[in-house]
Amino acid sequence: MGEAKGHVLFFPYPLQGHINPMIQLGKRLSKKGLTVSLIIASNIHREPYTSEDYSITVHTIHDGFFPHEHPHAKIKDPPRFNESTARSLTDFISRQKLSSNPPKALIYDPFMPSALDVAKDLGLYVVAYFTQPWLASLIYYHINEGTYDVPDDRHEDPILASFPGFPLLSQNDLPSFACEKGSYPLIFKVVVSQFSNLRRADCILCNTFDQLEPKVVKWMDGQWPVKNIGPVVPSKFLDNRLPEDKDYELGDSKTEPDESVLSWLANKPAKSVVYVAFGTLVALSEKQMKETAMAIKQTGYSFLWSCRDSERSKLPSGFVEEALEKDTGLVAKWVPQLEVLAHDSIGCFVTHCGWNSTLEALCLGVPLVGMPQWTDQPTNAKFIEDVWKIGVRVKTDEEGFASKEEIAGCISEVMEGEKGKVMRKNVENFKVLAREAISEGGSSDKSIDEFVAMMT
Ligand code: UDX
Repeated sequence: MGEAKGHVLFFPYPLQGHINPMIQLGKRLSKKGLTVSLIIASNIHREPYTSEDYSITVHTIHDGFFPHEHPHAKIKDPPRFNESTARSLTDFISRQKLSSNPPKALIYDPFMPSALDVAKDLGLYVVAYFTQPWLASLIYYHINEGTYDVPDDRHEDPILASFPGFPLLSQNDLPSFACEKGSYPLIFKVVVSQFSNLRRADCILCNTFDQLEPKVVKWMDGQWPVKNIGPVVPSKFLDNRLPEDKDYELGDSKTEPDESVLSWLANKPAKSVVYVAFGTLVALSEKQMKETAMAIKQTGYSFLWSCRDSERSKLPSGFVEEALEKDTGLVAKWVPQLEVLAHDSIGCFVTHCGWNSTLEALCLGVPLVGMPQWTDQPTNAKFIEDVWKIGVRVKTDEEGFASKEEIAGCISEVMEGEKGKVMRKNVENFKVLAREAISEGGSSDKSIDEFVAMMT
């Protein structure tokens, strides 16, 4: 690690899918010599923590909620959350400015636009860091600009939506918040408000890479000071996770990863196992969980299922025990996903298409079976299937339900079908492109170097 060049503050939105990519970028900046502090909005005060390996100091600021409130209460009440964190952030930055190494910049999640105003008013260089892809964020941008009108009813209007740099999108391909007026009104406001004050930002970063979203990136180039710095997958797979990452995990994901799954995988033939995981938030209906389990059983492939405790009771009775007894499958509450995806035995990934999972699969060359549920996931799935051609999307009925025949058919196609072979080849190509982007001299690495130079 070189001599410290400048001090940057990271301020992630307090959801695991948003915190992880912030930490990963923080590690990269630290390796390149910047001093990095991570600010977590929480209702629990923790003493600042310093990691010697990466010079990342972790601080908590108060989010205005009480310990007895549900961890997701802050997500359900954005006005209260924003107002409280803006106050705490103002205090925190003001104190930091009096320290021996005052911060130069704040890298914030645009889900919290008030952070931009706070830091700007306190004289910092302010950087918006989109941890979700442009695919979804730009649609929110067009809604904010009034150039796209969200229909009143998702089933009412069959017209395809057109956005610069995108293929035509059906209602089914749009981020869930852009499908129907009035659904999730509070979260809708959060995603659209990302752009409300973005013009004040000095720089915009995104966890993507130029070669992945080239048309969209080209369109963005003319409009915004954008740098794509992803994928921020650890460089062991491209680096090690900070062992303390788990201290900042929320909800079920606080669980220690079950490393024993790796020895179970070690005994399986190459590309023979179906990996199933739906991230940190998605909760399938009980009917859909059972159907998915039956589909996997029907395919006859071995499987590893990362199934959070809160979801486990939705599996068919006896499913876990039978798989264990016959050694055909393993259900674990939390796995080291990157190690799993990097394992030779994994043949495909049945996923909700969260952006981190999508990028991780892409970096590790694993084709996908997409079962998107909400937020950016349907749009990610559209690109997975029709643009990048690295997987299939499971078809659903009007209610969003996927039958076991459909799921099983998609898994078999990706594992062994002719189309599956093409998908595997395509994802291998993206694996190379992703590694090139983040390796020394690659497009994302150059963007990071330019940013580091500005902080020196
Ligand atoms: C949320 C939204 O749901 C998603 O759509 C958005 O793109 C990002 O924020 P989440 O549901 O948590 O994300 O999914 P995802 O983005 O895929 O992130 C899940 C993370 O948890 C991944 O980094 C994955 O590696 C990790 N994980 C998951 C584990 O480490 N172990 C597990 O067992 C399961």
